[in-house]
Amino acid sequence: MEFHKNHRISQVLQLSLLIVLGLWSLRRAESSTYPSTNCRAHTVSLKDFGGVGDGVTSNTEAFQKAIYHLSQFGSNGGGQLVVPAGKWLTGCFNLTSHFTLYLQRDAVLLASQDMNDWPIIAPLPSYGRGRDSPGGRYSNFIMGSNLTDVVITGDNGTIDGQGKMWWDKFKAKELKYTRGYLIEIMYSDQILISNLTLVNSPSWHVHPVYSSNVIVKGITILAPVDVPNTDGINPDSCTDVRIEDCYIVSGDDCIAVKSGWDEYGIAFRMPTQHLIIRRLTCISPDSAVIALGSEMSGGIQDVRAEDITAINSQSGVRIKTAVGRGAYVKDIYVKGFTMHTMKYAFWMTGNYGSHPDDHWDPKAIPVIDKISYSNMVAENVTMAGQLEGLHQSPFTGICISNVTIGLAKSKKPAWNCTDIHGVSSSVSPQPCDLLSEKGSESGPCPYPTDKLPIDNVEFKECSL
Ligand SMILES: *[C@@H]1O[C@H](CO)[C@@H](O)[C@H](O)[C@H]1NC(C)=O
Ligand SMILES: *[C@@H]1O[C@H](CO)[C@@H](O)[C@H](O)[C@H]1NC(C)=O
Ligand SMILES: *[C@@H]1O[C@H](CO)[C@@H](O)[C@H](O)[C@H]1NC(C)=O
Ligand SMILES: *[C@@H]1O[C@H](CO)[C@@H](O)[C@H](O)[C@H]1NC(C)=O
Ligand SMILES: *[C@@H]1O[C@H](CO)[C@@H](O)[C@H](O)[C@H]1NC(C)=O
Ligand SMILES: *[C@@H]1O[C@H](CO)[C@@H](O)[C@H](O)[C@H]1NC(C)=O
Ligand SMILES: *[C@@H]1O[C@H](CO)[C@@H](O)[C@H](O)[C@H]1NC(C)=O
Repeated sequence: MEFHKNHRISQVLQLSLLIVLGLWSLRRAESSTYPSTNCRAHTVSLKDFGGVGDGVTSNTEAFQKAIYHLSQFGSNGGGQLVVPAGKWLTGCFNLTSHFTLYLQRDAVLLASQDMNDWPIIAPLPSYGRGRDSPGGRYSNFIMGSNLTDVVITGDNGTIDGQGKMWWDKFKAKELKYTRGYLIEIMYSDQILISNLTLVNSPSWHVHPVYSSNVIVKGITILAPVDVPNTDGINPDSCTDVRIEDCYIVSGDDCIAVKSGWDEYGIAFRMPTQHLIIRRLTCISPDSAVIALGSEMSGGIQDVRAEDITAINSQSGVRIKTAVGRGAYVKDIYVKGFTMHTMKYAFWMTGNYGSHPDDHWDPKAIPVIDKISYSNMVAENVTMAGQLEGLHQSPFTGICISNVTIGLAKSKKPAWNCTDIHGVSSSVSPQPCDLLSEKGSESGPCPYPTDKLPIDNVEFKECSL
């Protein structure tokens, strides 16, 4: 009896221990934390709103209901929508303020393939029309407008635009309107997009426009290299932007800095300024690692790019503009750039053309000034620099220092410069005469030493 009783007690103890241990490990899994600019008081799962992650059921309504529910907590601690592992098919949806969308590991958002899920929205005022065709544009997949404090993050979950349908229709000229972007955040402040994989957008992947205080960090962007306009990240008429730790493979520019198109952008007058780009790896065989333009009619000023790796890309930094754009591209600083297999290390084009309509102003001459490139190594490059300014207004203040470019066998000249002015030091192969040797004792090209306010934004540990 005595023995049996003790044995039973020990069994009960063992069982309780197992339960306690089990609960503890469950709690540990549930209470995982993640870094974010702001934490939220209210958390719901997409499943609480009828979401089904089978890859077939439409979750458009679940997303809209969940986000509408959380929008009520904007002034009361904010809301967080967790998307669990699974394949979540959905039409486009709008975000709300003081809100976090969190995609768990193996959560995949799949963009609907039903054209009825993509209503037509107004063109951007600084473009005057859609970029693909005149008139409006199809909705973006994930949209935010007039918001404050929005976070889209996760444990490397995936947002899949399923763009093939759009690329095929675009190539076949079957689309009446302009393709949507994967994520577009408009007229908003305090945005964080981090720790996600974005794939196969119908067109650009990340488009912050008319916004400020934007951080894009730890994002992988993957699209086939032969599909049209699948740019990575396009800050457009934005102030205080920080893009860091991103890996981008795409059919168009990895990063394209923009600010509106010809007379529409000039009238809208909203520049992109105070932009940091760092620790970027890019593969873009037909486009640029960092493009400035071609739409730059609100101006582009104070861009600081460093620690960039390019592999098999058409050009390193490319400035694209045209008569009719007006405005300026100035105070551009790039340093610490490694390139392998490139057509051009540097490329500037003043005659890009491409106008929204016939109403562009031939007197709107863009000004390109103070462009500074230093500390770069490139190998297997076809041309070191194709630098073509504007005859009416040569590009000025170009400075290139401490740059070594290994050329591939080619019949092309290493440098071809027209309508530009600048200086160079410690550059190999020897630059064109328009980049006059300034001597290494005069120091490297300038790079700002002050810190931009967006660099002071810190992350908190938030729990799910
Ligand atoms: C998203 O918001 C915009 C207005 O900012 C509106 O035009 C559009 O219909 C909304 N889309 C959805 C899917 O709710
Ligand atoms: C969003 O903000 C812009 C710029 O402030 C304003 O013109 C527009 O009317 C706002 N839209 C809405 C829906 O509030
Ligand atoms: C996120 O997932 C992508 C795609 O699977 C992968 O290439 C990338 O390395 C992952 N990033 C991290 C930080 O795990
Ligand atoms: C991204 O996720 C990793 C691992 O989940 C974490 O260590 C890192 O801090 C996260 N970064 C951001 C910016 O969310
Ligand atoms: C050099 O570039 C050419 C394309 O211009 C490419 O075919 C070749 O594989 C590259 N060589 C190396 C060693 O990367
Ligand atoms: C020149 O650039 C290389 C990187 O390409 C860097 O390691 C080196 O420190 C630079 N030299 C000077 C004097 O800045
Ligand atoms: C040099 O650039 C000009 C345009 O600025 C172009 O017309 C010319 O063909 C180029 N020359 C070579 C050899 O590529």
